[in-house]
Amino acid sequence: MRMTVIGTGYVGLVHAVCMADIGHEVVGVDTDEARIAPLTEGRSPIHEPGLDELLTRTLASGRLRFSTSLADAARFADVHFVCVGTPQMPGGEAADVRQVDAVIDDLAPLVRPGSLIIGKSTVPVGTTARLGARLRAVAPHSEVAVNPEFLREGFAVSDTRRPERIVVGAESRRAEMVLREIYEPMLISGARFFSTDPATAELVKVASNAFLATKISFINAMAEVCDAAGADVVTLADAVGQDSRIGHRFLQPGLGFGGSCFPKDIRAFAARAEELGVGEAIAFLRQVDEINLRQRTRTVDLARDLVGGSFTGRHVGVLGAAFKPGSDDVRDSPALEVASAIRREGAEVRVHDPEALDNARRGFPELQYAFDVPKACEDADLVLHLTAWPEYRDISPDRLASVVRSRKILDARDTLDATTWQSAGWTLSALGRPP
Ligand code: UGA
Repeated sequence: MRMTVIGTGYVGLVHAVCMADIGHEVVGVDTDEARIAPLTEGRSPIHEPGLDELLTRTLASGRLRFSTSLADAARFADVHFVCVGTPQMPGGEAADVRQVDAVIDDLAPLVRPGSLIIGKSTVPVGTTARLGARLRAVAPHSEVAVNPEFLREGFAVSDTRRPERIVVGAESRRAEMVLREIYEPMLISGARFFSTDPATAELVKVASNAFLATKISFINAMAEVCDAAGADVVTLADAVGQDSRIGHRFLQPGLGFGGSCFPKDIRAFAARAEELGVGEAIAFLRQVDEINLRQRTRTVDLARDLVGGSFTGRHVGVLGAAFKPGSDDVRDSPALEVASAIRREGAEVRVHDPEALDNARRGFPELQYAFDVPKACEDADLVLHLTAWPEYRDISPDRLASVVRSRKILDARDTLDATTWQSAGWTLSALGRPP
């Protein structure tokens, strides 16, 4: 099938490439020439496992090309996926859907009758219905649908190729059938297809992220209780998660969630619920957000205690800058926020990350960066473990001991092996774990 994918960020680019890979003819559209030019030459602006190879292969197959022109897109296909950003409103909590609105307004006069515009961006419930009315005012014979995206950064390609579910909120049976046809290879591989109304489909996306964020904040709230009671949240999480009704996933305690999705999605959901007059029903999401942000201050407070009450003149080595392991994304990164806060209090902070140093440097030029762990920790009075990259679990505490000033490490991700560090003479402190 012929289709366009408008917006070439994480979601759009991966979707475009994967759609071309399963046999569709795809034009990826972005108004940003600086993104399109490298993509046309097969260079991806984002780091995702498998993406570069797939991009090269699909470009070579002739089934994928890129364009900066919506008119070109409208001439090429009758099916258009909209994958533009819906960030947090500047100075507010609601989602800023202006980019989505702009795509509809720009595309509406160009599309052929019978076109289908499918939203993949995360939007407040009710947006698709509103966009449908907006589209039909200009293009009466076209329609909208919503098909939320559930991919995780770091697994974008594999999640898109082998999704657990495809959720479609369509206004007509015809639109539903078009989406079934598009995703047929995924459905054959076992993805479950949910066809529902647009409002329900929009809510499936935000409810999923809200639930996962709640699960993380729940275990972090337990970590706070563990700290007060002298209990161990790591064992607690393990034992609680063993109940198959609860499960281990997203029960990893520590510094909490960041990134471009969970924080803004739960705020936007709370704001939208208030608009709908049901703010009280999900008021707990505000607490989920607060618990999450509190882990950052708890980490800074604990770090300050560990260096004797003040950061002035102290050297701190930071392990991790990305918002999570397996990603080079530093948007709303808890690690960088903690590193910055400590620097503002007078510490000299040197940050290591296996993938995210370039992005970190752009966003936080005031911090110092190091290409390897020993360099980041040279002369450190304290080492902070802030992003749970698997390679940090393999650090030799003995070797690191030879470069630091003081053998103190704060494991704010609760993934380091306390015994190994302690037997090498380190004091390992962690959130929610007894000393
Ligand atoms: C999340 C969802 O998992 C995707 O399903 C969704 O499509 C995406 O948001 C989105 O809305 O676009 P992502 O932000 O890539 O994906 O990252 P996750 O792997 O879900 O992790 C989110 C944050 O939670 C990270 O900061 C991670 O470190 C943190 N986390 C995760 C924990 O603190 N503890 C856990 O146990 C799990």
